[in-house]
Amino acid sequence: MQVIKKIEELRQVIGSAKREGLVVGLVPTMGALHDGHIALINQSRGNGDFTVVSIFVNPTQFGPSEDFDRYPRQLESDLEKCRAAGVDVVFAPDVSEMYPEGFGTYVDVQGITEIFEGAFRQGHFRGVATVVIKLFAAVEPRRAYFGMKDYQQLKVIEKMVRDLNVRVDIVPVPTVREPDGLAMSSRNVYLSEEERRAAASLYRALITAKKAVDEEGIADAETIRRMVESVLLAEPLVQIDYAAVVDKETLQIVESVKNGAVVLLAVRIGSTRLIDNMLIGVSDK
Ligand code: PAF
Repeated sequence: MQVIKKIEELRQVIGSAKREGLVVGLVPTMGALHDGHIALINQSRGNGDFTVVSIFVNPTQFGPSEDFDRYPRQLESDLEKCRAAGVDVVFAPDVSEMYPEGFGTYVDVQGITEIFEGAFRQGHFRGVATVVIKLFAAVEPRRAYFGMKDYQQLKVIEKMVRDLNVRVDIVPVPTVREPDGLAMSSRNVYLSEEERRAAASLYRALITAKKAVDEEGIADAETIRRMVESVLLAEPLVQIDYAAVVDKETLQIVESVKNGAVVLLAVRIGSTRLIDNMLIGVSDK
């Protein structure tokens, strides 16, 4: 496994892999790798890709009062995990490599970035879209793998790729969960023991929605949203930012889940913000 910090060197290594006829798969990450990231890597490897993992805590996607400084950074153990998972190249640039002096071009995906996470985290998706397009330009992958845990991010990237005619297949990978259902996230390490217990309520809320549709045949989205909200409200440590039942593609609020929908959740537990989601009324999750 090669560990590369410079775009120029990365291009050379990827160029020779492509000349050998290999298909390049990119797994973009911010490090602090967990089993959710390993699932992305496994999917890429399972497709036979020459697998490139980027590890870069991207400053432009954090707001001024967010956790950029305390975001977990553990490059050595991340490299070990990548090696064990059979990654071909880790690209771990410094901030100055991605955003050199004088940098001033950003990607602004409209509409879908203004709601939910976009409304709570001003400028977040602009930072995400910008770094992802830069990673695509550096790696030129055939496929790129994104976790469904960050559902809105996945939809933003899909839209960006469509709108800008970027020749990359975006591969969504299902969320990996802890035994009690908590979605794996690098931010889970911030939770105290008590907060960690409270965090399991997100999954309980999502499963309540899924069962309401699958087992009770409820199709009214507002009824489902209220059920979700009441599971969350029963947990005193949880403060809801949003709980919504939305269209799978546009993320607009729906009235009925008959044709499938997604429940989007964002909560704060202490100083930690957690998001999760679940597709309902469809058979693939
Ligand atoms: O999902 C993440 O970890 C980040 O938002 C990403 C896609 C790596 C961009 O920094």
